[in-house]
Amino acid sequence: MSNVTVIGTQWGDEGKGKIVDWLASRADIVVRFQGGHNAGHTLVVGEQVYKLSLLPSGLVRGKVGVIGNGVVVDPHALMTEIDRVSAQGLVVNPETLWIAESAPLILPVHGALDRAREAARGDHKIGTTGRGIGPAYEDKVARRAIRICDLAEPETLDWKLDELLLHHNTLLAGLGADTFTKEEIKAWLAEIAPRLLSFACPVWDRLDEARRAGRRILFEGAQAVMLDVDHGTYPYVTSSNTIAAVAASGAGVGPSSIGFVLGIAKAYTTRVGEGPFPTELHDDIGRTIGERGHEFGTVTGRSRRCGWFDAVMVRRACRVGGVSGIALTKLDILDGLDEISICTGYELDGEKINFFPSAPGAQARVRPVYETMPGWQETTAGARSWAELPAQAIKYVRRIEELIEAPVTLLSTSPERDDTILMRDPFED
Ligand code: GDP
Ligand code: IMO
Ligand code: MG
Repeated sequence: MSNVTVIGTQWGDEGKGKIVDWLASRADIVVRFQGGHNAGHTLVVGEQVYKLSLLPSGLVRGKVGVIGNGVVVDPHALMTEIDRVSAQGLVVNPETLWIAESAPLILPVHGALDRAREAARGDHKIGTTGRGIGPAYEDKVARRAIRICDLAEPETLDWKLDELLLHHNTLLAGLGADTFTKEEIKAWLAEIAPRLLSFACPVWDRLDEARRAGRRILFEGAQAVMLDVDHGTYPYVTSSNTIAAVAASGAGVGPSSIGFVLGIAKAYTTRVGEGPFPTELHDDIGRTIGERGHEFGTVTGRSRRCGWFDAVMVRRACRVGGVSGIALTKLDILDGLDEISICTGYELDGEKINFFPSAPGAQARVRPVYETMPGWQETTAGARSWAELPAQAIKYVRRIEELIEAPVTLLSTSPERDDTILMRDPFED
């Protein structure tokens, strides 16, 4: 019996939230280990729709949720989210939500700098969520972040804010943006500090205790491998590592706790924001997929770019992500298409290559090589067993398995929690 770590294998929004919610029935604790409120997960349970950004999806199942030290926390966004889901009936209190006291905070300066830099980038903008994720991670690595535990020490907070504001106000002023005073930030933090501190604890210690007691832990990744700051389509990436390996460092557990790595992949591909996307479709099929799949970002409301399944990209994500098995989602969105294409390689400047290049110029020039197969006219929407799937849909899934060199262990056929087909229980591996 092992733990499970869920990660995205494309550019995010693969349906991680739905799968984590479904798997959470088999877990005791669900842990977020990286990212921040740039993530947006939609969970559908009967008539209720939960939209989560920072809170671990396991809270919907009444499990303990953990925000690990690897997450960057905007305290006001967190409290707003807690109030919103509490109004929907979820129980979020210091018994059900543990937050690492060493997690760095996202402050108003971070959002302001994120947006000012995007504006200054012009045509080369990244298309960030504008929520201050990048600047907050930069501050952590630069050793000037304000961490949750600092809120309990006014004297520490004071000198750390001086250092942080010297840096940020210089940059903001240089970019022609408004600067911040220490009093403003202090007031913003004072308003939230007691409530935030009530959730803060040594998460690493509690997780270690849970491990010793044989509790099952589900690690919930945000974003995806192609947005990973090392392995993604740099510089069009987020500012954290998103691969399974960081579940350990971002939660404060040993690497052996990661367990089965479940990679989530959509049966096609989407991307929000800028950056290369070889299989992007600019035609009616792309628009149809976008409309049927309701491909609009939960966080920013932007339309998601849509395209065919890119097996080369997902194969790479499986390798660097350490994926043990795949959950393939949104198969139902492909119902009724005459033909379906899968990218099996690329062409770069007239030469065939079977990997995605690292340099941005080459990434933009890459052209996909497709294998095309007949679609299916039957509906897969709502299917809950392999036997309900049309033969051609099964062929599509099998071909994907071959190309990405990883087994499909779960299939999802609608947004609804129980419209899920389990081939292999990752917790039993
Ligand atoms: P995440 O960021 O990876 O958690 O994914 P999002 O929640 O941002 O986006 C996935 C969207 O697809 C959500 O609206 C889900 O409700 C929906 N979804 C998940 N799985 C399926 C599926 O199998 N079929 C359909 N039609 N929708 C799905
Ligand atoms: P979930 O967890 C999709 C994208 C942004 C932008 C880039 C950098 O829902 O899958 P950032 O604000 O992180 O600096 O933006 O990363 N991005 C996401 N795209 N799903 C997400 O999260 C994302 N989180 C960040 O659109 O292109
Ligand atoms: Mg999302």
